[in-house]
Amino acid sequence: MKEQLEQVYRTAIDELGHITNSDALREWELKFIGRKGEITLMLRQTGQLPAEERADFGKRANDIKNELTQAFEERESLIRQQELAQSLEEGDIDVTLPGRPRRTGGLHPSTQTLRQIQEIWAEMGFQVYRSRDVEDDDTNFTLLNIPPHHPARDMWDTFYTTQDGVILRTHTSPGQIRAMQDYGEDGTKPIRVILPGMCYRYEQISARSEIQFYQVEGLAIGKSIRMTDLKGTIADFARRLYGPETQVRYRASYFPFTEPSMEVDVQCMLCDGEGCSVCKHTGWLEIMGCGMVHPTVLRNGGYDPTEWSGFAFGMGPERITMLKHDIQDIRYFWANDMRFLSQF
Ligand code: PHE
Repeated sequence: MKEQLEQVYRTAIDELGHITNSDALREWELKFIGRKGEITLMLRQTGQLPAEERADFGKRANDIKNELTQAFEERESLIRQQELAQSLEEGDIDVTLPGRPRRTGGLHPSTQTLRQIQEIWAEMGFQVYRSRDVEDDDTNFTLLNIPPHHPARDMWDTFYTTQDGVILRTHTSPGQIRAMQDYGEDGTKPIRVILPGMCYRYEQISARSEIQFYQVEGLAIGKSIRMTDLKGTIADFARRLYGPETQVRYRASYFPFTEPSMEVDVQCMLCDGEGCSVCKHTGWLEIMGCGMVHPTVLRNGGYDPTEWSGFAFGMGPERITMLKHDIQDIRYFWANDMRFLSQF
């Protein structure tokens, strides 16, 4: 048996020397030093030897097993290195390549501006009122002092539905009527809300106009609200949005639901009012429409215009974002092009 042990030992060393891949190595391990390997089995038979031979045999068999295990481990690390070098050579996997970074999502530029606008108005005491996207013709137009066939309807090209009188809102102004009816408690309570939301217009899509876009409407109703309150509030908003030095300018305008009506310009933030292509060399950029709520609109909201007054305004977050980043084409906003979106 002793001779047999030495024989197996020599065979094992010899075979190990010829092994060049990890599959064959695994087989060799099972054959000689695994749980049912030849050396292991012989070690187990130590007990069957005559008592005086057991100690010597056991010691020798253990030494052999340790030696083979060590030789196995050395061979294993050598083969691993060779296999790695070979796979690098063949180029199937380059393990030295850095991992692919996982892209994180971000907020849409319109959402970012929308949130910024909402935060500013919240600081100034305006609550968010969510009005509906699908409106009726009455609330979108007639109750806002734009009767059927009135030429002012041309200001808003409308998406109609197959349901008579059901349309997509062309602006957030119908939310003024809904807020007054909802919060006003029959014209007895003051109101201070902003109404953010998507608007829809049946327009030819171009660099300057889209068929859908956000607006943020504002409405304040009280007992002694005056034009100076409107001007001061808007100027305060503009300075919170664009910085404390921002210059604001009001131009007389026309909207059927406000009287008087104005458009608001801020000093161009790209050229500091010097004149550039974005402000068309005027130094000013238009950011919203506003005015004192028309008596007819107050009455339609349930308020007595001899006692109550108010102001309203409406602005476009996309336009504000375009001016801020000098974005030339409004179509980028809803084109879902990652090259555009990932810049924000
Ligand atoms: N609704 C108007 C528009 O879409 C903007 C506006 C809102 C003007 C409120 C005055 C007051 O053009």
